[in-house]
Order: sequence, then structure tokens, then C-alpha cells
Amino acid sequence: MRQHVNPLSSNFNKVERIPSLSEMFSDSKLNLHLDIGCAAGEFLFDLASVNTSWNYLGIEIREKLVKNAKLKVFEREIKNLYFVFGNANNILNDVQSKYIIRNIKSISFNFPDPWFKKRHYKRRVIQPEFINVLSNELQKGTLIFIKTDVKELFDYMDRTISSNFYFKKIDKKDFNYSESFNPNKVKTNRENYVIVNQLTIFERIYMRI
Ligand SMILES: C[S@@+](CC[C@H](N)C(=O)[O-])C[C@H]1O[C@@H](n2cnc3c(N)ncnc32)[C@H](O)[C@@H]1O
Repeated sequence: MRQHVNPLSSNFNKVERIPSLSEMFSDSKLNLHLDIGCAAGEFLFDLASVNTSWNYLGIEIREKLVKNAKLKVFEREIKNLYFVFGNANNILNDVQSKYIIRNIKSISFNFPDPWFKKRHYKRRVIQPEFINVLSNELQKGTLIFIKTDVKELFDYMDRTISSNFYFKKIDKKDFNYSESFNPNKVKTNRENYVIVNQLTIFERIYMRI
């Protein structure tokens, strides 16, 4: 399977139909968490099985991974988990997603693709325009979590989010994880790899104010 796809390819311009929250989840009133770049979704499967008072939505640009994840959700009859295929920037910019964005309680960007070359920075999922869309549509109090093992990418993401007036940094030591989308601090696949290899994790939490 291809590890990297170019999110700016015209293949991703057309956004698939986004179902309503009540089509995605059996109880659409539960708190909603969105994981952007969820890969095969293992992190979300783990979260959804333990935290049944949350709904989880994953967006992933590699279609095969989303197809497999959707099949698993169907076979296991999981009612608080849904996956959408495509470029998260295009999906969340699409008019169909506005209602969903308004209902999100938190968003995670876990170990996004770094795109190291300067000419490829535009392929990074966090872009100033994207953060603007989120700041316009998210409710006050919504949280954004970023994590990466690439310091340069962390600085770039932090600069991009912090330069938007509507996001405030939250001090991790004041943060109560027990009420968050991930009370047991479940780790993503990349995070487990980073821990095993004793690499540094850079992370930050922001709140829409
Ligand atoms: C390095 S992997 C990290 C996967 C997972 N979050 C983890 O922590 O193990 C980054 C993932 O983001 C996906 N991705 C990259 N750009 C994306 C975009 N614009 N929209 C949605 N998914 C994207 C990639 O296909 C890949 O699965």
C-alpha cells in the first residue's frame, strides 16, 4: 500500500457525500471527537470500544484503509465510530461538513505527515486557511490536540495555530484528561513506535476561545 499520497492531487477535489450525524451514530447527541489522518483507525477502534459515551469520526486520505475500517465497523456492529475518506482540508471546507464541525468537541492531529521539503509544505494537513475554517466554524471551548516527533513540524503547526487569534494554548499540566475524548491516554500506532524507539514527542493542546 502507498505510504504517502499527494493531498493536493485533483483526485481529492470531489468530496464524498457526508452523512448526517444521526446516520453516522446511533446516539448523535454524544460528544464528538474527530481524528484527522487516522490511517487504519486502530486508535479510534480502541477509543470507541472503551469510551461508549463519545462518538468518534476519522478522516483518512488513503481510500483502501477507509474501506477496510468501514467494513470492520459494520462487521463488529460498532455504533459510535465512523470513517470518511478524502483530504481533510477539502472535506471540512465543504458546505456539507459545517453542521458536523459545529458539533465537534475535540480534534486530534496525531503524527501528521511531515513533508520535509520546503516546496512540499503546502501538502501539510495544517494550513493557515484550514485553521481559519476551523476557527470560524468550531464552537467556543472546542479543543485541538497536536502530536508529532518532528520538531520542525511541531514548530510549524504551533506557529500556524497560534497565529490565529481564536485559539489559546492550554497548559498540559492544567488539563484534565479524564473528561477528554481519551481519558485512558490510548496511544496511536505511530506514538507506540516513537516510544519504543525513545524518540521525543512534541505535543500541545489549544482551545477555541
Ligand atoms: C504518519 S501517519 C499517522 C497515522 C496515525 N495518526 C498515527 O498516529 O499512527 C499520517 C496519516 O495521515 C494521512 N493524511 C495525510 N494527509 C491527509 C489529509 N490531508 N487528509 C486526511 N488524511 C491525511 C496519511 O495518509 C496517514 O495515514
